[in-house]
Amino acid sequence: MTEAVHTRRVFSGIKPSGGLTLGNYLGAIKRFVALPEQGFETIYCVVDMHAITVWQDPSELKHATRELTAAYIASGLDPDQSILFNQSQVSAHAELGWIFNCVTRVGWMNRMTQFKDKAGKNAEKVSLGLYAYPSLMAADILAYHATHVPVGEDQKQHVELTRDIAAKFNNDFKVPDFFPQPEPMIEGPAKRVMSLRDGTKKMSKSGESDMERVNMTDSAERILKKFKKAKTDPEPLPDNLDALKDRPEARNLVDIYAALSDVSSEAVIAEYAGAQWGRFKPALADLAVSKLVPISTRMAALMDDPAELDRILAKGADKAAAIAEPILAKTYDIVGFVRSHQ
Ligand code: TYM
Repeated sequence: MTEAVHTRRVFSGIKPSGGLTLGNYLGAIKRFVALPEQGFETIYCVVDMHAITVWQDPSELKHATRELTAAYIASGLDPDQSILFNQSQVSAHAELGWIFNCVTRVGWMNRMTQFKDKAGKNAEKVSLGLYAYPSLMAADILAYHATHVPVGEDQKQHVELTRDIAAKFNNDFKVPDFFPQPEPMIEGPAKRVMSLRDGTKKMSKSGESDMERVNMTDSAERILKKFKKAKTDPEPLPDNLDALKDRPEARNLVDIYAALSDVSSEAVIAEYAGAQWGRFKPALADLAVSKLVPISTRMAALMDDPAELDRILAKGADKAAAIAEPILAKTYDIVGFVRSHQ
């Protein structure tokens, strides 16, 4: 089975662990929503099992799961067109994840830079789940024989590991091409949205200060304030991107502007060549407000009816399971598990 036989199937996921940032929106959600129109079958997941690799308060986890579901829909995802569900409701993820734990080598896991960053000096105290996480991520993708995985740059290594796991499985069990080699899709100007206070650090939900990030639920006032206070340098904007090589904060703001307005960073630089920050920052802040506030308003309205969100997740889980279960059953046969109990 090659790409010609596998359909063009997209799988991606986001953790419901606290608030969603502009990085999640531009690097993931906004791009996910555009893919059905480009001829992809799309499966999007609220990866709650990934979230619990670090402690989550149970009631906050439920809230964050529904809020992320609302964020997908408020950003334009149509749950009748894309499959939208939460991971723990489709048991194939955990089951295939275990098989992959037995395929993946410890040496491969030891090279995962995100684990090293997250565990830091505390590596002995973090959960085993945090360490095994990339193997579960491989199961998420491969349980659907997904061929394309849209992610931000920080997830690239995990998608590469997924390819290695697929290749080793196919090779160990002599089933060439059973699992496809999924392609990471890391595109556009927002591959890596940086902190508003330090252009060398990724914008993340866990950053120390709230002023470092824009949250999808921030009010207009808060968004305006964060861009106004964003770190920059004394120079005006140049007329080409090369000149921003050593100006990470400036480059980040140009890239954010480009991603929000669906143009290239080159086009933004051409429009604002020579502009002072006093002109560019308010334009960027207004643009961000005009894009984000309608989404957060829709999210709030959707959150008023959690039962409806749960129904959407249940329907999505049924559709997801209908794809994953036959692939898991075939995997069990390949591995040599007796399946007499149907
Ligand atoms: P997570 O929840 O950390 O992030 C979700 C998505 O948002 C992207 N992202 C960013 N993109 C650009 N700039 C940023 N500052 C930024 N911050 C986050 C991430 O790259 C990601 O695409 N392990 C994954 C979730 C996952 C997954 C999967 C993804 C689980 N299973 C299977 C794809 C396929 C994660 O922790 O993403």
